[in-house]
Amino acid sequence: MAGKYTFTMIKPDAVANNYIGPILAKINEAGFRIVALKYTQLTKESAGKFYEVHKERGFYGELVDFMSSGPIVAAILEKDNAMEDFRKLIGATDPAKAEAGTIRNLFAKSIEANAVHGSDSDENAAIEGNFFFSQLERP
Ligand code: RTP
Ligand code: MG
Repeated sequence: MAGKYTFTMIKPDAVANNYIGPILAKINEAGFRIVALKYTQLTKESAGKFYEVHKERGFYGELVDFMSSGPIVAAILEKDNAMEDFRKLIGATDPAKAEAGTIRNLFAKSIEANAVHGSDSDENAAIEGNFFFSQLERP
């Protein structure tokens, strides 16, 4: 059965552009409840760990530098079919290919600085939520 939680990050580009409010509003309007929320900054080490699955990819070093370059907002979101529905709401990785009205279409400028992260499986949603939030801070 599809899980009811997913994990997201508002990335450094979107925080720098003052899009925290508009992005959280879009998330709420799409029917998600924000059940954990944190403003913080990743170190290079923690960004490297978070994106460890991409370690062998050519863009890994730049991705780690970018994700640790400024503050981010981490959140756990609740909705039926949360992971899949949220991936639809954010759109394609490359904002130039993201459907009109998606968060990346509206708020992102490049394939790297693409405004938001969304978990790609229920299992990763749980792992990523636990990466940022303690047992006391999350549902
Ligand atoms: P995310 O994990 O952040 O939600 O993004 P995604 O699933 O749509 O894309 P993924 O393949 O997991 O890539 C993770 C992040 O790496 C950066 N990226 N840069 N320069 C490039 O070709 C490239 N490709 C990916 C993006 O920030 C992407 O979101
Ligand atoms: Mg991904």
